Amino acid sequence: MIIFSIETSCDETSTAILQADDHGFKILSHKVFSQIDTHTQFGGIVPEVAARLHVPKILPLIDETFKEAQLSSTDIDAIAVTGGPGLVTALIVGIHTARMLSYIWDKPLISVNHMEGHVMSGLLSHGKDEIEFPALCMTVSGGHTELVLIKSWGEYEIIGQTRDDAVGECFDKVAKMLGLPYPGGPQISRIAGLATEPVEFTPPMMHTDNFDFSFSGLKTSVLYYVRNLEKENNVLTEKQKANIAAGFENAAVKVLVHKTKRALQAYSIKSLFIGGGVAANKTLRSELTQLIEKHTSCTLYIPQMSYCTDNAAMIAMAGYFKAKNKDYISPSVIKADPTWTIGTEQEQ
Ligand code: KG4
Ligand code: ZN
Repeated sequence: MIIFSIETSCDETSTAILQADDHGFKILSHKVFSQIDTHTQFGGIVPEVAARLHVPKILPLIDETFKEAQLSSTDIDAIAVTGGPGLVTALIVGIHTARMLSYIWDKPLISVNHMEGHVMSGLLSHGKDEIEFPALCMTVSGGHTELVLIKSWGEYEIIGQTRDDAVGECFDKVAKMLGLPYPGGPQISRIAGLATEPVEFTPPMMHTDNFDFSFSGLKTSVLYYVRNLEKENNVLTEKQKANIAAGFENAAVKVLVHKTKRALQAYSIKSLFIGGGVAANKTLRSELTQLIEKHTSCTLYIPQMSYCTDNAAMIAMAGYFKAKNKDYISPSVIKADPTWTIGTEQEQ
């Protein structure tokens, strides 16, 4: 089966073509245009700008994707597009493009949940569908921090989530406090590597009897720490910044890994996935790898770096499973659902 996919839920315009069957998966072509240089000037994503920038990019990107795969529209079996969650005006650009192509090319249309895409990104890197259930995914991005129980592909339950800020959002805000550009995650990670004495911040919600997270208190602790230092010596030194970044990263990673470890035990998890932009974080990847080395009954599926941040390859992967079940949507009915929760029906 060949799936063509489109992703425009935030600030990446992305298209991909996936070839998949019961033996394995292969990405035949994958294109990503990142708008990050534009949004960096504003210190964060500006939704209306994101939507507008998708418009001139989407058709040339589709053209390039088919050329690279050496395929034409008649070769594909279905079109998958991100239906939500995300920025509504940005989602609409991808959805309208996909529904028009579905109509003109006479190909079935699939609406994919963006968070399900992130869950599947580790599977995409694995290349085949031979995994053991129950599985768990820690989805950590700029908008979400979720522990998702995967009973089978397509059957999800959120067992824990953030009660306030998403962890990626927190990385971005701490970076801003340290005078680092958007997106903050990679910047924090880079300077944390230069730390000599990481500051000891308390990891939040370590001792609560659930799988939820909270990051706003940690963000506030960093803010007060920075303000106090600035009172003393006005401008932070590079060394101080590195120690703060490492301390924040350590505390955030510690609670993510701790709650994951508890969930592995509570649900007898056999396969662990991570997804979302923060899954690119080296400390998080290495701590989870060490955790799984001790949990020999569980296999870890880490996505390659290019599948951590938003991309259409993961949307094609999730679309494939829906196509197998003929879970299609009419082009005249599909709508953007900016708050669509994984494991639930899309709002129509
Ligand atoms: O999944 P994603 O591309 O977009 C959303 O759906 O939100 O995630 C973007 C987030 C940003 O907050 C960014 O700072 C964070 O992922 N991020 C990282 C790293 N790379 C990206 N956070 C920590 N460490 C990284 N290396
Ligand atoms: Zn995302």
